[in-house]
Amino acid sequence: MGTLLEVKHLNKHFNVASGTLFAVDNVSFSIDEGNTLGIVGESGCGKSTLGRAILRLHEPTSGRVIFDGMDVTSFNDEEMRQMRRHMQIIFQDPYSSLNPRLTISQSIEEPLRVFQKYMGDRERKARVEELMELVGLSARSYNAYPHEFDGGRRQRVVIARTLAVNPKFVVCDEPVSALDVSVQAQILNLMVDLREKMGLTYIFISHDLSVVRYISDNVGVMYMGQMVEFASKKDIFDDPAHPYTHALMSAIPSIEVGRRRMILKGEIVSPINPKPGCRFSARCPFVKEVCVARDVPIEEIAPGHYCACARHKEIKGLPFVYAN
Ligand SMILES: Nc1ncnc2c1ncn2[C@@H]1O[C@H](COP(=O)(O)OP(=O)(O)OP(=O)(O)O)[C@@H](O)[C@H]1O
Ligand SMILES: [Mg+2]
Repeated sequence: MGTLLEVKHLNKHFNVASGTLFAVDNVSFSIDEGNTLGIVGESGCGKSTLGRAILRLHEPTSGRVIFDGMDVTSFNDEEMRQMRRHMQIIFQDPYSSLNPRLTISQSIEEPLRVFQKYMGDRERKARVEELMELVGLSARSYNAYPHEFDGGRRQRVVIARTLAVNPKFVVCDEPVSALDVSVQAQILNLMVDLREKMGLTYIFISHDLSVVRYISDNVGVMYMGQMVEFASKKDIFDDPAHPYTHALMSAIPSIEVGRRRMILKGEIVSPINPKPGCRFSARCPFVKEVCVARDVPIEEIAPGHYCACARHKEIKGLPFVYAN
């Protein structure tokens, strides 16, 4: 399996009243075809901005996005419009992603009308029916409107519309977070099935670590716009190297009695005009001079395992600061 997506030194900065906000700050990684990269990190760390910058829904400030061997950051508007057929995005809220005035079938056929203009009416109808079946929607819903559907079925419609033009790559931005817990698993299973059937490659953004653990091959941990750790799912969950990843992991709800949680002290530093040094240093129990003196680049600490911590070797195996 070859590399499908390469992100190189991607930056997305926003100019805000009090300065420059580093929403995505020098992020690099790659994804192999057919794999799923989970992206985790707390609210505001830049997960959605990263997803949008890759698709150029937010124009990157700098850096490159290489998709299927092509530098899409150099594409003009028309080239990018054509490329979107292969690079899609699913958002969290299936309520606002569907036009309430269109029937389910009209929503699903919209991308076909845009990208496959020469498709005849009968062929298009057959394709819509095929897609509805693929995502588990009954043919009886063909003329239904979104308000007649619950969140789970709406997200199925969104998925059918997303897959209508056979994309290779989908950014899934919290696709199950707005759904009832009881339907989350159904939609997740559907997304896994479709990935296998259609050979899809996903970036799967979620704040829910159990969801990420279920669906991902590799996981990237973001903190204040930066990727602080990137590794196989196994390494991230079983052998995390960055203190922030440890903190995230210890916050996973557990039925173990007396499980201890890491309490993060210190303030969250603003992503506006950040000072040099590790962004996590203000909250890190292991902070030393070396952490604040200069930026800490992400480096490969073991094959396929990347971490941005100046002290990762010294702190390996040390007990973390826990509180009950
Ligand atoms: N259009 C914008 N203009 C200015 N700042 C923005 C804009 N979009 C996002 N930001 C800022 O960029 C940072 C990253 O936001 P982003 O939405 O990517 O975070 P996130 O990790 O997706 O958070 P959440 O988990 O809440 O969805 C935040 O500080 C946010 O306020
Ligand atoms: Mg988001």
